[in-house]
Amino acid sequence: MQTELEGTEEQVDEREALLEDARARIEDAGDADAVKAVERDFVGKKGSVSALMAKIPSLPPEERRDFGQGVNELKRAIQDAAQAKLDALAKARLAQDRSASDFDPTLPPPAQARGSLHPITQVTRELEDLFESMGYEVLDGPEVELDFYNFEALNIPSDHPARDSQDTFFCDDAGHLVMRTHTSPVQIRAMERLEPPFRVVVPGKCFRQETTDATHDHTFHQMEGLVVGKDISVAHLIGAMKTLLEGIFERELDVRMRPGFFPFVEPGFELDARCPFCRDGCSVCKQTTWIELLPCGLVHPNVLRAGGLDPDEWSGFAFGLGLSRLVMLREQIDDIRHMLSGHLRFLEQF
Ligand code: DAH
Repeated sequence: MQTELEGTEEQVDEREALLEDARARIEDAGDADAVKAVERDFVGKKGSVSALMAKIPSLPPEERRDFGQGVNELKRAIQDAAQAKLDALAKARLAQDRSASDFDPTLPPPAQARGSLHPITQVTRELEDLFESMGYEVLDGPEVELDFYNFEALNIPSDHPARDSQDTFFCDDAGHLVMRTHTSPVQIRAMERLEPPFRVVVPGKCFRQETTDATHDHTFHQMEGLVVGKDISVAHLIGAMKTLLEGIFERELDVRMRPGFFPFVEPGFELDARCPFCRDGCSVCKQTTWIELLPCGLVHPNVLRAGGLDPDEWSGFAFGLGLSRLVMLREQIDDIRHMLSGHLRFLEQF
């Protein structure tokens, strides 16, 4: 590379000599550090190019401009030479790495680490698909709920002992606003909004003022189901529950029903399924071979009335699936408090 150097002949000679020297030493440098050291020797603060710059004030004024320009060009030429050498060294290094025996340029790049859906979200989505395939609509409801929907309209008046089992977070002094203790209040909201006949499921968070332990948390998930139509019977209820459970566990299951009391259904049942994990008893079914899964029943006439429906004309069944419980069962999770802990070591397993 030839550079136009300006100034008197003597000055030009001096700079050409410097440039030649710099280029030769850069050429000889064996690695990036050596190149940078040479560059420093010339254009660094104490380098020979800086020494030339320092001469400017002592020159006759008419020479200063040309001289300064010449030194700047020299500086740039040395820097360019150094950069070209650094590029060449990097290229050579890459070529050497590539020819090393274990380098395979056809391999895909390492995969990006990605998160995954929470197991509750996964099961909720699966169930929504299952229910939608059976003609159900998926509804949502408020997590902060009026006392009326959470209790009153569900046939749980304020003096009813059933309120004791649902230790409630109240949101106002008068007790009209509560963190919903179950997804059942959306039953009433659905009756108010939809023309029967209809089928709905309502997945969502519920809250109770619990002393937490391995099976109780203050926040947990349920999926409510409600079917309203003409002449709905316990036979419809059993059929639907069987399809639901077989969809969840992906196999045929024996179910049994025991009477259960919930103020918003009559008759009310506890539905148990034969343990999908064993034949003779295991820790999941507490050695009974049955798993308590699904409280359900026929909708109480008072509840239909509270939702604005005539119980002589309409009937229905309802169920309250414990989603958190179901996920724990399916994934063999031994402590409900893991679910909302947010710990990556827990979440990364799904
Ligand atoms: N809401 C009840 C609870 O959380 C569960 C339940 C029981 C829901 C029976 C229902 C039902 O729809 O029919 O304790």
